[in-house]
Amino acid sequence: MQITPLNVSDASALDNFIALRKIIRRCDQPEAFSPNWESLRASLTTVNPDLKQVREVAWEGETMVGFFVANFMVHENQHHANVGIMVHPEYRRRGYGSRLMRRLLEVCAVEGRTQIAAWTTAQAEGGPYRSQGGGAFLSAHGFTLSETMHAQVAPVDYLDASTWERLYTEAMSYAQHYEVLSWVDRIPDNLIEAFARLESTALSLMPLGQIHLENYRMDAPRLRRLEEIRRAKGSGVCQSVARHRVSGELVASTTFEVHAPPAGRADIGMTFVGPQHRGHRLGLAVKLANTRHLREHFPHVSHIGTNNAHTNEHMNAINRQLGFTPVEETHEYVLKR
Ligand SMILES: CC(C)(COP(=O)(O)OP(=O)(O)OC[C@H]1O[C@@H](n2cnc3c(N)ncnc32)[C@H](O)[C@@H]1OP(=O)(O)O)[C@@H](O)C(=O)NCCC(=O)NCCS
Repeated sequence: MQITPLNVSDASALDNFIALRKIIRRCDQPEAFSPNWESLRASLTTVNPDLKQVREVAWEGETMVGFFVANFMVHENQHHANVGIMVHPEYRRRGYGSRLMRRLLEVCAVEGRTQIAAWTTAQAEGGPYRSQGGGAFLSAHGFTLSETMHAQVAPVDYLDASTWERLYTEAMSYAQHYEVLSWVDRIPDNLIEAFARLESTALSLMPLGQIHLENYRMDAPRLRRLEEIRRAKGSGVCQSVARHRVSGELVASTTFEVHAPPAGRADIGMTFVGPQHRGHRLGLAVKLANTRHLREHFPHVSHIGTNNAHTNEHMNAINRQLGFTPVEETHEYVLKR
C-alpha cells in the first residue's frame, strides 16, 4: 500500500476520491441524505487561507482504498486538529485504516497538534443500522469518547403558519429588549463588525465534551473570505441574529448552511445565545425566524438537519418543538498526546 497526497489539480484523482466517498456513503449510511457531490468537489480545490487542510489517500495498486483529512486552524487553536479517516468497505479489517492513522498522527505531530478530534456515526435508538466499527477503531488507537450527539432531521414545513406565529409571538414577548434580524448569503455591511465580535465568542459557548478550544479570532475580512468559499462551493447561507436594542450588540445567532440543489437540505451550524442574554427565549426566536427566512429564500429545501449534544438540554427542547427527530448518533472522540 502507498499513501500519497491527494493531488487536487488532477481531475481523475478527484473523480476517484468522489467515487470512493460515494461508495462509503452507500455502505455506511445508505438511506441518509446525500450531499451535493459537486459542492464537495469544488471545496477540494478551494483554498481557505484561514484553515490548513491536509488530505492523503491510500492506494492498493491503481485502486484508491482509503483516505484521511486533517484540518488545522491557522490563527487560533494551534494545539488542535479535526480529522477523519475512511476506508473502502471491501478493504476494511486489513490494516489500511491503521496505516492511515499512523501517517495522520505523524502529520499532526509535525503541525504541533496535541489534541486530535474525530467523529463517527452510531445507531440511534430505533434508528437504522450503523456499524460500531468507527468507534472500535478509534478506541483501538487510544481515542476516548468525548461527547455523544443526536443527528436529527425535521421537515422544513413541520410548523404550520398559525403555530409558527403563535410560537414566535410568545417567544418575542420574553424578548422585548431585542430585535431579530435575518439575511441571506452576504452579511450586511452595517452588521459585519458586530457579527465578527459575536462569532468570536461562539466556540467557548459550545458543549465540547473533553475538547478544549479557544474562541475564533474573527474579523470582517475573514468573514468575507468565508462567504467567498461558500460561493465557490455553490452553497448558501441563511442567518438570523438577535440584537440588543440598547447596546446595539448582536447577542444570539443561528445559521443554516444550505446545500446547492438538487440536495433539498439545509444544516444548522452553531446556534448560541450570549450568557448575559439567556432566559429571553432568544434561541427559539432566532431559530423560528431563520426557518421562515429559509422557506422564503430557498424553496428547494425540504428538510433541515442538526447535530446536538445529548447534554444540551435547552437546545434539545427547542429542537423537539421544531419537529426534529433523531436519525443517528454522532460520537465525538478525542486523542490527547
Ligand atoms: C473505521 C475504519 C476507518 C477502520 O478502517 P480499517 O481499515 O477497517 O481499520 P483496521 O483494519 O486498521 O482496524 C484496526 C483495528 O480497529 C478495530 N476495528 C476496526 N473496525 C472494526 C469493526 N468493524 N468492529 C470492531 N473493531 C473494529 C479493531 O481493533 C481493528 O483491529 P483488528 O482487525 O486486528 O481486530 C473504517 O471502518 C471506516 O472507514 N469506517 C467509516 C468511517 C469511520 O467511522 N471512520 C472513523 C472515524 S473518523
